[in-house]
Amino acid sequence: MLRRWWHDAVVYQIYPRSFYDDNNDGIGDIPGIISKLDYLKELGVSIIWLSPVYQSPMDDNGYDISDYKAIAEEFGTMEDMEQLIAAAKQKGISIMMDLVVNHTSDEHSWFVEALQSPDNKYRDYYIWRDPATNGGVPNDLQSIFSGSAWEFDEKSGQYYLHLFSKKQPDLNWDNEQLRHDIYNMMNWWLDKGIKGFRMDVIDLIGKDIDKGITGNGPSLHPRLKEMNQHSFGSRDTITVGETWGATPDIALQYSGESREELSMVFQFEHVTAFHDEQFGKWKSKPVDFNVLKDIFTKWQLALNDDGWNSLFWNNHDLPRVVSKYGDDKEYRTESAKMLATMIHFMKGTPYIFQGEEIGMTNVKFPQFSDYNDIEIHNAYQDLVDSNKLDHESMMEGIYADGRDNARTPMQWDDSLHAGFTTGTPWLKVNPNYDNINVEQALDDKDSIFYYYKHLVQLRKEMPVMVYGKFKRIIEQEQAVFAYQRTHENDTLTVILNHTNQVQHVKIPEEVITECGKVIAHNYKGDNHIQHHELVLQPYESIVYVNATV
Ligand code: NOJ
Repeated sequence: MLRRWWHDAVVYQIYPRSFYDDNNDGIGDIPGIISKLDYLKELGVSIIWLSPVYQSPMDDNGYDISDYKAIAEEFGTMEDMEQLIAAAKQKGISIMMDLVVNHTSDEHSWFVEALQSPDNKYRDYYIWRDPATNGGVPNDLQSIFSGSAWEFDEKSGQYYLHLFSKKQPDLNWDNEQLRHDIYNMMNWWLDKGIKGFRMDVIDLIGKDIDKGITGNGPSLHPRLKEMNQHSFGSRDTITVGETWGATPDIALQYSGESREELSMVFQFEHVTAFHDEQFGKWKSKPVDFNVLKDIFTKWQLALNDDGWNSLFWNNHDLPRVVSKYGDDKEYRTESAKMLATMIHFMKGTPYIFQGEEIGMTNVKFPQFSDYNDIEIHNAYQDLVDSNKLDHESMMEGIYADGRDNARTPMQWDDSLHAGFTTGTPWLKVNPNYDNINVEQALDDKDSIFYYYKHLVQLRKEMPVMVYGKFKRIIEQEQAVFAYQRTHENDTLTVILNHTNQVQHVKIPEEVITECGKVIAHNYKGDNHIQHHELVLQPYESIVYVNATV
């Protein structure tokens, strides 16, 4: 396998609005990120994925861009952005920007032009259809943010497509001029020194609306190849596509070495596996670890020899990992470290979402009006106001899976508003900031933070952690997840208890012979395998390496 600079890197995702507010207007900003680069350097990450900072009316917090070459005023200026790229580079950190090109804002000049008239040059940059014969919407395509995906334009008497909010019209990727405008814009940013792109809902750009196809459409891969050729392909970049519908076969099409498309994709099986058939995430099923183990194993095996995995639990759209998959009360520290162990020793590139490294948790706001997210508000309207779900059930759904769980401000210390701002934060801080914050984590050598730091460092030092082949072991033990990675003569053995009970685990002889020294352990003190048995405390995880060195 060809070695790439990002293979042993760990990516840290920043949601700028919630990271650190330098000018105290209540909204995180770019100068705020610059002032916290030393913190990221201490953690050891080498790439920042920056959620959108472009000019935007913020209908969807920046995923609705009105100018790709300008910075939103509330986040700073283009000079701030250039300074961030330079200051990060000085610390050995690359910037990966969010590329949102399935849609723009309705306030983007292209759409403003397109609205002028059906013969405007930019009309065809978007997707328009005449009303159905009954005068209604062209078809029953639904928006991912609830309701019809079609919005009527009085002036021309046509509908435009928006797979997200009506302020996010979908771009028409069949238009060649549009595609080249996008590639030029990407090159403009690459020339500024950014090192790659996270590509928002990129699996939607090959859509064939008239056949009802949105994801994984027929022209998706040819378009990605074209994009690669005209922009990042000739530069040494990292690219990751957000692909909700990817299967391992599809992921190989994106990230296979000979494919010349993307470095890797985000796949979401560990998320969607627990969605309800009817209500999706708003009524999700309890997490079943045995299902999770099979999913992770399937992906590891499928991309053992070709392609590349992204390893992540959460991001700005998902609940906090420790609340969703662990125990955010009694065993918060132990389960957070166990979950980090589980994915960081796998093959692929790990992503840490801001605050994950200190074990931030989900939040429960008492008032519905405290929630900001457009997806939450639209879904509430769609489901509760029309009596499909009662208020209490919907609130449970929001508490468990709503996107604002990830978006509460970063908890820096135990001062007012968690040290995020001295102004009024745009979204309330999680009230548990007096116990869970960066200052406290940095003061405690056993904190979740230092455990992550250790994992990030190990990846830089151990080729087996980066390139080792994955094999699941001890499958018969229902309460543990165990796997090995092997590379040349080195073997890593990972054993974790994913339950809140003590477990007595039988370890076969052939595994014992591979268990050298312990390199990661989330409990204090030693724990030895005795008489072929390992006794694991709740959420205990141990990693052994049998290296030649
Ligand atoms: C996926 C992004 O991660 C999410 O935050 C956004 O709302 C949608 N794409 C639309 O851009």
